[in-house]
Amino acid sequence: MIGSHLAEELLKRGYQITGIDNLSYGRLDNLKQVSVNPNFQFYKVDILDLDTLKILSRDCWAIIHLAAVKKIAEKDVSLPTLQVNTTGTEHIFEVAKMWGARVVFASTSDVYGMSPDLPLQEDGDLLIGPSLIKRWSYAVSKLYGEQLAYGYFHDQNVPMTIIRYFGGFSPRSSFAWSGGHIPIFIRAVLLDEELIVHGDGSQTRSMGFVTDLVRGTVLAMESDRAIGQVINIGNDEELSVIETARLIHKIADTGKKLKLKLVPMDQVFGKYKDIQRRIPDLTKARTLLGYQPQIKLEEAIRLTIAEISENLRA
Ligand SMILES: NC(=O)c1ccc[n+]([C@@H]2O[C@H](COP(=O)([O-])OP(=O)(O)OC[C@H]3O[C@@H](n4cnc5c(N)ncnc54)[C@H](O)[C@@H]3O)[C@@H](O)[C@H]2O)c1
Repeated sequence: MIGSHLAEELLKRGYQITGIDNLSYGRLDNLKQVSVNPNFQFYKVDILDLDTLKILSRDCWAIIHLAAVKKIAEKDVSLPTLQVNTTGTEHIFEVAKMWGARVVFASTSDVYGMSPDLPLQEDGDLLIGPSLIKRWSYAVSKLYGEQLAYGYFHDQNVPMTIIRYFGGFSPRSSFAWSGGHIPIFIRAVLLDEELIVHGDGSQTRSMGFVTDLVRGTVLAMESDRAIGQVINIGNDEELSVIETARLIHKIADTGKKLKLKLVPMDQVFGKYKDIQRRIPDLTKARTLLGYQPQIKLEEAIRLTIAEISENLRA
């Protein structure tokens, strides 16, 4: 999702891009607009395939490492998350070292875990949950990726920046759980279906529109001051899940009733305790990169509803 929007922005700025994805979650359809541009090449490749990565990354100035198996539910298998997000990330840093490329590594706000130190700051302590809960595998794998990034930077002189995205969405987000609650709610409202809310919906999130995440990523890639840094990127507006559902329903204005279905947390997550609040401190992004989220949550939802409803009609 983010990669397709990022490719569009980088092409606008005159970069030549090689896109790599094994299409396990990604959709070629998202690349419709960029695939006609002669400065864009796409290869269906797995980042676990080091030999092919070595060839494709030759002459790259920068590698923006977005490929990952994202958060998983308790019933899912966790090994792909652990393998792709650790070995795959190591491969990225190996090829960056080989060709002298800089790396922007996409980490996640999930690494803050249950930290109560709000708003979440990059140099704060991280509070990770028990190992016998699979849901933590994603956070742990990304955290390992961050330490790898730091190791390659410190020990091997690979220039890198770690960006911790807080939730982002776009009309291209997956409607699966890993795509986040906003696209799922939008689709349900437009199709007059039930909106499944985990728990009582009082948990809050800070969700950003993809264009803001992309801008932060490009700023991190182009700024020498970002090298060797960990930087939060996203939107610092906070809204509870249930209020988000109500806002989507209001904006969509379908004339139908809002159908909320509250499902007890333990039925969804088992022993995993959902994070109650997650707000980024964006001071570092602002001072180091001049980053400021530009799209308000309400506007982002409006834009996403407009495009998803058009897609549903097509
Ligand atoms: N969207 C968010 O809210 C968010 C929040 C925090 C962090 N992130 C991180 O940002 C990055 C991009 O997220 P996204 O929302 O665009 O997710 P996404 O699932 O759309 O993109 C990840 C891509 O990685 C690809 N992939 C998975 N395993 C691969 C492998 N072995 N080899 C090659 N490609 C592989 C998938 O096919 C998918 O297209 C991820 O690293 C994610 O962890 C995203």
